[in-house]
Amino acid sequence: MLNHAAGVLAAISADQRADTALRFYFEEHRYLQPPAKRVISHTVFVYFRWLSWLDSKASPQKRLEQAVALHERFTADPKSIKAETLAVRAVPAWLWDEVSFPPAPTGEPADPAAVGPAKAGYLRQLQRDPALWLRARPGQGPALAKSLFACETTPRSADAIRFTGVQDLFKTEQFKTGEFEIQDLASQLVGLAAAPKPGETWWDACAGEGGKTLHLADLMQNKGVVWATDRNARRIDTLKRRAARAKLFNYRTDFWDGGSRLPTKTKFDGILLDAPCSGVGTWQRNPHARWTTTPDDVRELSGMQRVLLTNVCGSLKPGGRLIYAVCTLTRSETTAVVDAFTAAHPEFEPAPVFGTAAGAAGPAPGSTSPATVLLWPQDLNANGMFIAAWIRKT
Ligand SMILES: C[S@@+](CC[C@H](N)C(=O)[O-])C[C@H]1O[C@@H](n2cnc3c(N)ncnc32)[C@H](O)[C@@H]1O
Repeated sequence: MLNHAAGVLAAISADQRADTALRFYFEEHRYLQPPAKRVISHTVFVYFRWLSWLDSKASPQKRLEQAVALHERFTADPKSIKAETLAVRAVPAWLWDEVSFPPAPTGEPADPAAVGPAKAGYLRQLQRDPALWLRARPGQGPALAKSLFACETTPRSADAIRFTGVQDLFKTEQFKTGEFEIQDLASQLVGLAAAPKPGETWWDACAGEGGKTLHLADLMQNKGVVWATDRNARRIDTLKRRAARAKLFNYRTDFWDGGSRLPTKTKFDGILLDAPCSGVGTWQRNPHARWTTTPDDVRELSGMQRVLLTNVCGSLKPGGRLIYAVCTLTRSETTAVVDAFTAAHPEFEPAPVFGTAAGAAGPAPGSTSPATVLLWPQDLNANGMFIAAWIRKT
């Protein structure tokens, strides 16, 4: 298996991500069975998780061995590697200019370079194997959890299930008949924050392969319509295949390149902008990105996010709900984008993120949810995510 993992490493180039290299490698080595593919993928991801501990002069096989040994040591005893060491080796140094942790009451020290409990928890989470989350059809979470090998439910969402087995989910009858989607818990919480109602008209402006489009359409009980747009036609084709499997028909697709020329003159009850971002919130699942993402990417994406928000916002009806989501944790792409938008658009009022969602993460029922939420990987055992919400006043 180490030779296969070394083969994947050799195929990774500056412009090819580890998950893409793995996909191509498996296409070229079709005889590899799912259990073998799982071990190879895991070894490649472990390698990037522990990259800066490895001896750069050693052979790729030797480095892979070192990474696996470190990972086993860490998994057996996460405190065997000091959080201070993780802070300088597990992530690039620039991250600490962009990410900070809540001060007291979590007891974080005032010195941003110091490692308090929240930062240590975040770093340890980054080095663990990521959880696999499924989204059941509305109301079907507990029944699906019982029918599928090994699953755990979560108080964060009644429809989210963590799969803890090793079976090939794509071969299950439940998958083939559209009883669940593989969707990270943090992404599911974006759909719950949007909380569309049956019969409404929503725009999922950066719909990609439709993870959130399908969730919105499902929450709308196949009534009303979700406009799903993206600039990548291949992704929209995947969205259509997924929607057919889930038997969801209350959507339509179109091309939108993010510019001021909009795909429709329709005014929407709600708009979800799940914007392109640096993906820092996915660094546990996709550790290669820690070493390829740069501060320039963050700056550039922050500019793009502001433009996209400005371009979509005129399509909202008065009283409509605008949701901005990014699977990142950087200040430039989260609070800075939101603050700039709120300052420039007095017609939009910040609104509770989980104001209308039942069972979503956030404050207990009856309390006031904030207008921005940063979901940390260590709190969810899932991707990191930022969500903001506004209501259009006029
Ligand atoms: C975070 S991903 C969307 C994921 C998707 N919403 C889901 O839940 O599966 C961002 C998407 O934005 C699209 N995108 C990037 N730049 C864009 C632009 N300028 N205009 C429109 N879409 C863009 C990308 O093609 C990508 O599919």
